[in-house]
Amino acid sequence: MNATIPPRAATTRRRFLQAVAAAGGAGALYRTMGALGVPAAAAADAAPPALPAGSGRGRRVAILGAGIAGMAAAWELRKAGYECTILEATARAGGRNLTVRGGDVMEETDSSQRVGFGPGEHIYANMGPARIPHHHRAILGYCKEFGVALEMFVNDNRAAYFHNSERFGGAPVAGRRVHADMRGYTAELLAKAVGGGALDAELSADDKERVLAMLVEYGGLDPDRLYKGSSRAGYSGRFVHAGFGEGAANDPLDFGELLRSDFWQYKLHFEEFLDQNPTLLQPVGGMDAIARAFETRVSGLIRFGAAVEEIRRTQGGARIVFRGAASRAQEALEADFVICAIPAPVLRNISADFSPEARAAIRSTAFVPAVKIAFETRNRFWEEENAIYGGISWTDRDITQIWYPACGYRAERGVIIGAYIWDDLPGQGARWGAMDPQERLRAAIAEGERIHPGYGAAIAAGASRAWAKVPYQLGGWPESYDPPAALRAADGPFHFAGDQVTALPGWQEGAVLSAHAAVAAIAERAARGG
Ligand code: PHE
Repeated sequence: MNATIPPRAATTRRRFLQAVAAAGGAGALYRTMGALGVPAAAAADAAPPALPAGSGRGRRVAILGAGIAGMAAAWELRKAGYECTILEATARAGGRNLTVRGGDVMEETDSSQRVGFGPGEHIYANMGPARIPHHHRAILGYCKEFGVALEMFVNDNRAAYFHNSERFGGAPVAGRRVHADMRGYTAELLAKAVGGGALDAELSADDKERVLAMLVEYGGLDPDRLYKGSSRAGYSGRFVHAGFGEGAANDPLDFGELLRSDFWQYKLHFEEFLDQNPTLLQPVGGMDAIARAFETRVSGLIRFGAAVEEIRRTQGGARIVFRGAASRAQEALEADFVICAIPAPVLRNISADFSPEARAAIRSTAFVPAVKIAFETRNRFWEEENAIYGGISWTDRDITQIWYPACGYRAERGVIIGAYIWDDLPGQGARWGAMDPQERLRAAIAEGERIHPGYGAAIAAGASRAWAKVPYQLGGWPESYDPPAALRAADGPFHFAGDQVTALPGWQEGAVLSAHAAVAAIAERAARGG
């Protein structure tokens, strides 16, 4: 146990961690909603704002973007009689909520991919949102309202791996070992400090005994309060378990190696982050079940292929100038209010009569250049060979993680996420975005082979999405958990929406809460005759 922490550890807490750690989140959002007149109770139980029937009659709302925020806003406003038009630049609804299946075509600014997956109810990939935390009650509320069937999503799996190219000989290590050993060693150290009197000033004599007893249980320590390994870490024999007594418990991993690895920097406690806590859910058959459920309810309101070119203020409201895909002609839409759910990286290039504060806020809202790569496989080697059912293996390679499907267990084929890059390492997102789709697949397979040797042989087809290069998206989700105040307040007739105006960037819950806040604000103004 010669443990020195290398300087690298202190410097690798990049965007992901900064963002996650800064999540002072919900409080700020509730304050905003309070300021917008949403009663606290409505925010607390995540119910949509209750608008009086018919209160929107004769009022026109232009909604920019048919993603989850835009469609949720239209759905709620329409119930109250508002006349809504959703302008959607692309040919489909859902925004970043995108599930792909065989035959689908995915466009990026300089490439087009036809997804080569075969048929099958489990053969799909959620290229955008893929998990819903149990406490995201607004989006889960819509799943209930619309009858979207849900199943468990597996985030944490102790049979999945931690992999660091320079540690443990570059071999992947089962999560159960990393968790058990890290906890055991930490408990042993603390027990030494407490037992040796180093914390006597902090602890009463009774509490000192209790802490020592707790550490023995918590860490799996022996009667001398030493960590000598634990059955929690599994067995090294034929089975993971002891069976007939055939196996020997795994030797504990070297503590120094554990400390020099990157495992503990966020991956080891990933499930402790509030939004990653078990349980999580997913719609059966693909995340786009949610987008489709909204779409069928508001489809008559959506103008597809309508790319916004100008956002103007007028005497009593606003005018949106857009170009229709079919006619290629400029058209204009007049409205009393506008809900603008266009992602900031796109919005900043549209000519708009926003206030200087809103303009600056939009310019400063940077998005994570996230990349996801999915593979259809001919067999489920992770289940058959490794007894991995759902969950995530982590690596220090660019691919960052491999996700195993939480559906179709023991079926013949499956779809795994072979890379989910959130730009943890400098330039990572851009580097993978710059590769052409074929290159991305090859590179992801090569890195995945370090965790699952022979992996490439099982792969039947692959698909990738570099969100920074997706037209009308230009990014994965906002980097900051602290959206600029100017985007959370109305700017004349303009109300900003999307996860980008909330403390839940990268979550559909943020999109829905932003829609509710915009709807409530518009209703309040309408009630005042605004
Ligand atoms: N919600 C997405 C995910 O779970 C994106 C995200 C990642 C958002 C990390 C915040 C933090 O992967």
